This record gives sequence, C-alpha cells and structure tokens, in this order.
Amino acid sequence: MAQASSGASERPTEDELSRAGLELKVEGHVARITISRPERRNAMTGRTWKTLAHIGQTLPEDVRIVVLAGKGDIFSAGIDLGMFTPEGVDGERSLVAGILDGSADADDVEAYIAELQAGFLWLRRPEIVSIAAVRGHAIGAGFQLALACDLRILAGDAKFTMKEPALGLVPDLTGTKPLVDIVGVNRAVEICLTARRVEAAEARELGLAELVVPVEELDGAVDDVIAALLATNPEAAVATKALLQQAAGNTLEQQARAEREAQVGRLTSLAKAMGAGG
Ligand code: CAA
Repeated sequence: MAQASSGASERPTEDELSRAGLELKVEGHVARITISRPERRNAMTGRTWKTLAHIGQTLPEDVRIVVLAGKGDIFSAGIDLGMFTPEGVDGERSLVAGILDGSADADDVEAYIAELQAGFLWLRRPEIVSIAAVRGHAIGAGFQLALACDLRILAGDAKFTMKEPALGLVPDLTGTKPLVDIVGVNRAVEICLTARRVEAAEARELGLAELVVPVEELDGAVDDVIAALLATNPEAAVATKALLQQAAGNTLEQQARAEREAQVGRLTSLAKAMGAGG
C-alpha cells in the first residue's frame, strides 16, 4: 500500500529508474535512493525528479526513513546542463526549446516546473524522515535536493553551491525556503548571489548539516541515525514531526493548542493500547 493518496499506484520499474539515473532499495522501514549517473557527475534531469515524485507516490506504507545519496564521491552536479539546450537530454523535454519555438507559454513552463518540484516536496511528509547523505559536491539542484530533506549528514569533503544565479537562473526546486529558514535571509542572499561553495565545516556552523563525519564514516553515521530514529515510537514520530513543522508559522498560543491536540491523540492511542493489553 502506498503512502500517498493519489498518483501512480505501481512502483517505478528498474528501467524507469535506470533512465532517470536513480537506484532504489527498500528494506523494511528504510528506502535508499541513490542518484546514479557517475559519468555526468550525478547530474539530474526532469526525468530524475519526475521519477523521484513517482517513488514518493508509491512508497510502501511501512517505510519510515528515506535516505538520498549520490553514487561514488559526489552527491550531484545539479541539473544536467543539457536541459538548457534546445536539444534537451536523451529525448527529454528541454527547458528552453518550447520558449524558443513558441510552442510553450509561461503557464506551460510553470506547470512543468511544478511537476519537477513534486520530486522534492514529498520528502517533507510527516510519515517519513528524509536524510541527505552528502559526499563531495551538491551543486544547484543537488543542494536543493539536500535542502528538501529533513536531515543532512555530511562527509568532511561535502560542499554546497547554489549555482543558479551565476547561470542567470533562480533556485526553483523548493530550496529557497528551507535555506532561508535555516540560515536567515541575509546569509541566504550572500550564499546564493555569490554562488560560492559552502564547505562541510561551515555548513555545520550554519545549521545546514546536522552532522559532519570523516568520509569513510559517512555510511556508518547514517546507519546510526537510522537506528536511533527507528527506536522511536512510529506514531509519536509522525505526530511530533507534524507539530514541529507547524511551529514556525504558528503563534505561541496556536502552537500550544496544536501540542494539546496532538497529545490528546497520543494519550488516547496509548490508553487504548493499555486497555487492549489489560
Ligand atoms: N550537466 C551535464 N554534464 C555534467 C554536469 C552537469 N551539471 N556536471 C558535470 N558534467 C559532465 C561533464 O561535462 C563531464 O563530461 P565529459 O566527460 O563528457 O566531458 C563529466 O561530467 C565530468 O565532469 P568534470 O570533468 O567537470 O568533473 P570534475 O570532477 O572536474 O568537476 C563538477 C565536477 C565540479 C561537478 C563540475 O563538473 C561542474 O562544475 N559541473 C557543473 C555544475 C553546474 O553548473 N550545475 C548546474 C547548477 S544549476 C542547477 O542545478 C539548477 C537549476 O539550474 C534550476
């Protein structure tokens, strides 16, 4: 059974995954997604993000953790720059061809970008905790994909770059809000408009990484965090994540009310379980 209420019902096939440059392994409560186009430094295309959305729509219900990583020594070189050429990439829709030949208007392009953003947005669902495990560069869309996750665990060689403004573009794959939420608008302006690299140690200081570990310890560190997350009561984890996600947009009073309501739900479930046990 899938977690999402709409969209595709069949999981992506191996062929779909491979054409999207993705690998997917689901084991028990953990889904591991690997961006896998090493010959293009794990650059991603529209198909990558549409397939990510498809993975999100068809995630088995008992998956609680989603880990995103890059194949080899890089997380991702961002968007495949071929997407900005009239020819596009491997027959995929180019981002500029329709504008150039007049076959796509602003609404068409916006709708297409919304489809791509869907590949990022599901990573915030309260039912899962998403973890970006970052080695090497995470550039542009790669940085935004890491920002779409709840947690970022970095190897010491990780580096984030918001390259879009340097290419005449804006970051449009859902990254601007989490970036501002984490580092504040002033630092976000500086990071984006200089398109400079933020190395792992600075990322840790800015709150862009929950943890930074030596390269050879990255997999073990991710496994340790997964084990700790899985040790928590699953329903309480979902309710707590939902509560935390509302906090920034709520007044103190609204948030206090949300806490009470969520706790009534929890206490009710726990009491019922005690009743059933006794
Ligand atoms: N798209 C397509 N191909 C890419 C790519 C990309 N983003 N990044 C690397 N490649 C390809 C290179 O063209 C090269 O191909 P060939 O072997 O055929 O020449 C191959 O991958 C290896 O690349 P490098 O030799 O450059 O590898 P490196 O290890 O020296 O450098 C890198 C790695 C720092 C990531 C460098 O490749 C790089 O800067 N890449 C471009 C990054 C970039 O500008 N990304 C786009 C950001 S904007 C965005 O993502 C979102 C948006 O616009 C909306």
